[in-house]
Amino acid sequence: MTIDLRSDTVTQPSPAMREAMARAEVGDDVFGDDPTVNRLQEVCAGRFGMEAGLFFPTGTQSNCAALMAHCQRGEEVIVGQQAHTYHYEAGGMAVLGSIQPQPLDNKPDGTLDLVEVEAAIKPDDAHFAITKLLALENTIGGKVIGRPYLADAVALARRRKLATHLDGARIFNAAVKLGMPVAELCAGFDTVSVCLSKGLGTPAGTVLVGRKDLIVRARRIRKMLGGTMRQVGILAAAGLYALEHNVDRLAEDHANAERLARGLAKLGLPVDPVQTNMVFVTVPKDSAADLKRHLDANGVATLGGTKMRLVTHLDVDAQGVDRAIAAFGAFFAKAAAAAD
Ligand SMILES: Cc1ncc(COP(=O)(O)O)c(C=O)c1O
Repeated sequence: MTIDLRSDTVTQPSPAMREAMARAEVGDDVFGDDPTVNRLQEVCAGRFGMEAGLFFPTGTQSNCAALMAHCQRGEEVIVGQQAHTYHYEAGGMAVLGSIQPQPLDNKPDGTLDLVEVEAAIKPDDAHFAITKLLALENTIGGKVIGRPYLADAVALARRRKLATHLDGARIFNAAVKLGMPVAELCAGFDTVSVCLSKGLGTPAGTVLVGRKDLIVRARRIRKMLGGTMRQVGILAAAGLYALEHNVDRLAEDHANAERLARGLAKLGLPVDPVQTNMVFVTVPKDSAADLKRHLDANGVATLGGTKMRLVTHLDVDAQGVDRAIAAFGAFFAKAAAAAD
């Protein structure tokens, strides 16, 4: 079996998850009739200590709807250069929401410098867009943003009358790593987008949780974006299953990422410190393409590159990690023998 380290989105729904999906009670969610979707939204909102939740097909759409719920045309969001909402969502906030991003460099730990954030808030002057929102991401590039920083960011936003959105696609990875309930970690955010199809292993689905008025607005925007679905309790059942069974086990993914990092470091490869389920390893530029081919041929799927991102998840166990390390090892041993 291939050890697929490309992303934590590659997981297959387990037999037990599929059974929960098959048993799901469903209804037309456009009429609000799907009991399983309604339950997922309530359970998720409850976990995060938020007023309401709304089910989306994808994290990209949930983020976009949230930003559009916060910002009107021509208003502005302060966001990281590396943030998914800014860098990896095809410019959706600008194209679909006419929202102006004000990107700031992320610091090496993934945070934004709060002095820079405050300085980026535009004065009330007809020349400028109205700065409306601060958007953060946790985890970001596998890095955990801790509660003290988040508390300071939310306090700054509140003091300067900005709303706050958190892209929490992998928020449970952060919470498990910190040993902290998500409600405590995300306290004070107006909206949080929570993906179920990454570390949690469902086939699809994201829940946007937040203040009731914003969720009502996001529901209308979801319609506009084509994201309302019908008997989608089948997917919501997978989400409920994942929340019950696949959250605490994220610690195993983190341990496997550590194991992978240690194994690669032993081969002499530079590896960034690991915090959650992502390993970043630097491979020599002139062997990157050959290495990817070798790994593919030996049943280890990666995205390749010189700064290679390897992601652990529910379908990779410690044995799989050891196989991946062995495949890396064999490549570099062969390269060293050839150079002799
Ligand atoms: C941090 C982050 N936010 C949002 C998304 C978007 O999720 P989706 O692929 O469901 O649109 C991703 C996807 O990988 C992500 O990594």
